[in-house]
Amino acid sequence: MEAAGEEEISVEEEAVDKNVFKNCSKIAFYRRQKQLSKNSTYRALLDSVTTVKDSTRFQIINEATKVPLLAEINGIERNIFRLKINEETPLKPRYEVPDVLISKPKTVRLISCSGDKGSLILEDGKGDLKCHITENPFKIDLVSEKEVVMSINSQGKLFFEHLQIPPKQRTTKENEESASINTSQENQEDLGLWEEKFGSFVDVKANGPTSIGLDFSLHGFEHLYGIPQHAESHQLKNTGDGDAYRLYNLDVYGYKIHDKMGIYGSVPYLLAHKLGRTIGIFWLNASETLVEINTQPSVEYTWTQVGPAAAKQKVISQTDVCWISESGIIDVFLLTGPTPSDVFKQYSYLTGTQAMPPLFSLGYHQCRWNYEDEQDVKAVDAGFDEHDIPYDVIWLDIEHTEGKRYFTWDKKRFANPKRMQELLRSKKRKLVVISDPHIKIDPDYSVYTKAKEQGFFVRNREGSDFEGVCWPGLSSYLDFTNSKVREWYSGLFAFPVYQGSTDILFIWNDMNEPSVFRGPELTLQKNAIHHGNWEHRELHNIYGFYQQMATAEGLIQRSKGKERPFVLSRSFFAGSQKYGAVWTGDNTAEWSYLKISIPMLLTLSITGISFCGADVGGFIGNPDAELLVRWYQAGAYQPFFRGHANMNTKRREPWLFGEEYTKLIREAIRERYTLLPYLYSLFYHAHVASEPVMRPLWIEFPDELETFGVEDEYMLGSALLVHPVTEPKTTMVDVFLPRSNEIWYHSKTFAHWKGGCTVKIPVALDTIPVFQRGGSVVPIKTTIGKSTGWMTNSSFGLRVAVSTEGSAVGELYLDDGHSFQYLHQNQFLHRKFSFCSSVLINSCADERGRYLSKCVVEQILFLGLKKKPSSVTTHSSDGKDQPVAFMYCDKTSTLNLEKLSLNIGCDWEVHIK
Ligand code: GLC
Repeated sequence: MEAAGEEEISVEEEAVDKNVFKNCSKIAFYRRQKQLSKNSTYRALLDSVTTVKDSTRFQIINEATKVPLLAEINGIERNIFRLKINEETPLKPRYEVPDVLISKPKTVRLISCSGDKGSLILEDGKGDLKCHITENPFKIDLVSEKEVVMSINSQGKLFFEHLQIPPKQRTTKENEESASINTSQENQEDLGLWEEKFGSFVDVKANGPTSIGLDFSLHGFEHLYGIPQHAESHQLKNTGDGDAYRLYNLDVYGYKIHDKMGIYGSVPYLLAHKLGRTIGIFWLNASETLVEINTQPSVEYTWTQVGPAAAKQKVISQTDVCWISESGIIDVFLLTGPTPSDVFKQYSYLTGTQAMPPLFSLGYHQCRWNYEDEQDVKAVDAGFDEHDIPYDVIWLDIEHTEGKRYFTWDKKRFANPKRMQELLRSKKRKLVVISDPHIKIDPDYSVYTKAKEQGFFVRNREGSDFEGVCWPGLSSYLDFTNSKVREWYSGLFAFPVYQGSTDILFIWNDMNEPSVFRGPELTLQKNAIHHGNWEHRELHNIYGFYQQMATAEGLIQRSKGKERPFVLSRSFFAGSQKYGAVWTGDNTAEWSYLKISIPMLLTLSITGISFCGADVGGFIGNPDAELLVRWYQAGAYQPFFRGHANMNTKRREPWLFGEEYTKLIREAIRERYTLLPYLYSLFYHAHVASEPVMRPLWIEFPDELETFGVEDEYMLGSALLVHPVTEPKTTMVDVFLPRSNEIWYHSKTFAHWKGGCTVKIPVALDTIPVFQRGGSVVPIKTTIGKSTGWMTNSSFGLRVAVSTEGSAVGELYLDDGHSFQYLHQNQFLHRKFSFCSSVLINSCADERGRYLSKCVVEQILFLGLKKKPSSVTTHSSDGKDQPVAFMYCDKTSTLNLEKLSLNIGCDWEVHIK
């Protein structure tokens, strides 16, 4: 892959080079913890307990080093516990991750009751939840309604490397003391205490060893999920000896599938689920982190020798999780559920919910590295119209700039960016352009000179601006961890400052792990220095989060606070959902990458990041027509829907594969546009009620064991089950339809099945296996425009799928699709549809809403009505009844009402007799 530009930059084309990236054995703090944690036991000093405000504090002593740690336990509203462990008197402050918690969590008073000798019990006010602290060895049990849900440090893996004076500055006495602590000198190099080598890179550690670790035993749990981002299965696997899930944001071109290495983003948060309870562990740490997982399934022993009758003993399953981070403090939130939806709410209470996206961003996005020039953009845009394919956004990659100087335009290719945007505007479409965090070193580039002048770049450990290579050649990296830098960067998006930009231009932040081509593991060296003198190692995983935050803020500010931003980011951290969308980076045009996109997106979705997608078609290489079609069909039912391709791939706009395939892609994209009212309503729910848009089956069916490992299908909201085809030449798919008291309807043939079984569904290349759950109402659009902008006033349809009890419910959320007026002026409409006793009622779901819509419901399709009605009438709120023409199909048990004109925002009823 070559980038045109003054300096040619090339990145390896082949599979991921394992010598470029570390495996666990190359990570010194991991080796240290494996070797040393066995010898370290900790004792809590429970006679040191104090309660300051609502927080209970006590000392913990390492029996070997005698260095005191301070533990702090807080009860937090909504059944959350927070445990913090830090050194009591560190040589200097240790990094505590700022800006992720949306506000200071409200604490609740815990009542302390003394337990047996050597233990302390802390109870929440209701007495449902208890923390049982044992003194020696130190351990905490979390008890809910008499059940021990989780034990902390029961495996004795608490590990805390206290800050030390560097060897060179020590007195002889201090040296003697630390030698006894740190094992022999020979071992020191291997342990990478003050220096760590990787290939030709040397990481000199000013603060020496600073790592931390803690174990959690989850009782009765065998199913764990979360800790993105890995190209791995949805359900977390056992990590085995010397292996772990790595959370370290890295630019891994063509990442390997089924691998636990870290890729672009990190959310240090996992969920565990069993029948009757879901819990979460949120480990708030932004340094490199490893997570070990070890599940022992439940076993039943039968003892025959104990007496005349055989005795049975059941040992319940348990999963041990160990979190290991390179630095910072232990700051962990225990989310006690008990339902999946409680855990989602608890997590979003801490980190925020998904930003409400502008409607256009839920349409289809057309991207390529690169659309060459204005003419190319025009031609691609026209191509969509010519082929009658809707799309909302065209994207420009790095080549649109003057030599990869972001916020500029290539004078030849894009001589008149405003003219180009006016054309797009006239088509009611948008433009997204890229803006990366590296800034070309060029004294004539004002973004560079201004940032340089103000000291806004990350520095190297010698104190000068760090210089590394990325797309533009030698670059410096903006220090987004500094709020002043963020403020200044946000200002660059103001219309007068960003020449050539208009209000239809939105932003894509890429390479923000950050990617540094010749750096260790293709990123910044860990001893680079950020604002406040913090080393990069402390905060590596949050760098990209900050860039997306500043960009989103910039877009809001340029509209004077009126318009919702849209920002796509490659890197992310816990809480990134507040700032926009993320995608899964540089995937490959192979079936296996299409398949893994489902678990990858499910994992992101349950860790708060609802607005996520994978490059449709696969970024690297050339998909054949079949793979491309299947990818469009899958993407149409995933939250963020963008086709993208690497610069050295063949062009692949939807109409380049022959009419047969154009038709199939058109249908898939049109299906997406049909579903937009439903999807938009789901995003509203993600925004206000923390419910993921794309959901693994176990979330919707938490009491169905069979769903816990499913990852080749998922729910979109609670109404649609999607099973994308991810194998070539497929003629049949096995679809699991959950729960025996449910009924499921094929979205095209309307055939139905009782749940609780796997059904064989024949598929052709035009089939997207989608099933509507009985008991749901899905709002759709009945006519599709060239983009979402053309559909504002187009009519709605309702798909009412009747449950086994003959009822159904659903909702529609509507607003202007772009501003914040839904929030500040209640300019929204929230309707509820319920079908019961043969009457469908459209009523108000939220009285505050005052958005007026001219739209009507034009069509209603009932699925699963066993009997042909004798009459259908509509009943409006002013008391008028009107008969309605209807079509009933015996074969499919469907009732179709067409040419209706029922205002979406008014109360009305449809009576079926
Ligand atoms: C990175 C991105 C990719 C983009 C390319 C050029 O590889 O992941 O999406 O096209 O950089 O900017």
